[in-house]
Amino acid sequence: MSARIIDGKAIAQELRDAIAAEVAGIAARGGGQPGLAVVLVGNDPASEVYVGSKARQTVAVGMRSFEYRLPADVPEADLLALVDRLNRDDAVDGILVQLPLPGHIDANRVIEAIDPDKDVDGFHPVNAGRLLIGLPGLVPCTPLGSLLLLQSVHHDLSGLSAVVVGRSNIVGKPLAQLLLQQNATVTIAHSRTRDLPAVCRGADILVAAVGRPEMVRGDWIRPGATVIDVGINRLPPAPGAAKGRLVGDVAFEEARTVAGAITPVPGGVGPMTIACLLRNTLQAFKARHG
Ligand code: GUN
Repeated sequence: MSARIIDGKAIAQELRDAIAAEVAGIAARGGGQPGLAVVLVGNDPASEVYVGSKARQTVAVGMRSFEYRLPADVPEADLLALVDRLNRDDAVDGILVQLPLPGHIDANRVIEAIDPDKDVDGFHPVNAGRLLIGLPGLVPCTPLGSLLLLQSVHHDLSGLSAVVVGRSNIVGKPLAQLLLQQNATVTIAHSRTRDLPAVCRGADILVAAVGRPEMVRGDWIRPGATVIDVGINRLPPAPGAAKGRLVGDVAFEEARTVAGAITPVPGGVGPMTIACLLRNTLQAFKARHG
């Protein structure tokens, strides 16, 4: 069997097209323009790439993009003061502080300073709590994107066995909550799980979000299962190459011969994350403007 490849790029493009159409409709009736503020501290090259990409896509769907770049040694108090200013700025509907932050800054303190109604990352404890108890709120972008990809394969997740490998606050835990809301039977597995391959083989839906290149092997996968690979890891360069290959947390070539459907890396979950950030920004705008 050869798995269906879930085209995250195409699904993200459809989502962005729908967002752009809605933003244009709001503008046409004089309803205003959603705005997203992104704050980057320091100049981590990977973060620079993400932030540039976010800004381009924000403008492409017709939203306003505000970018703030602070030096790596910025005092925490200055960052908190900027967040406070953005909280009170009516043109700003969404605030994202790019992670990771330099070691002298307490990321949790910064996240808690963001107005939960503008927390388009969905990382604030109020939004995490809303998700846990099933109240409407802003949901983290990567889990949301992963769920949308799953729903492109399965109309109904009810009763399916879902195994999420990874228990981070950013992906594993919120995705488990989303799957539970969809009536899946959810297992969260992690580095201490006993016989992880056997646990994974029990999954109709297997999500890998551990950050370890090609950890999930083909024989960990139940034939016909749907596999979502959240990992994005760069391998060491091959001899003579400038850069190593990008791979996920799943050994793709093995997995595709067993799975029913699988996301590629790159081109799977990655493109969905920014599309969901724009979706969250539109949701925050609509909530703030009635
Ligand atoms: N760094 C890498 N991905 C993300 C993300 O989704 N949100 C934030 N704030 N920082 C990140």
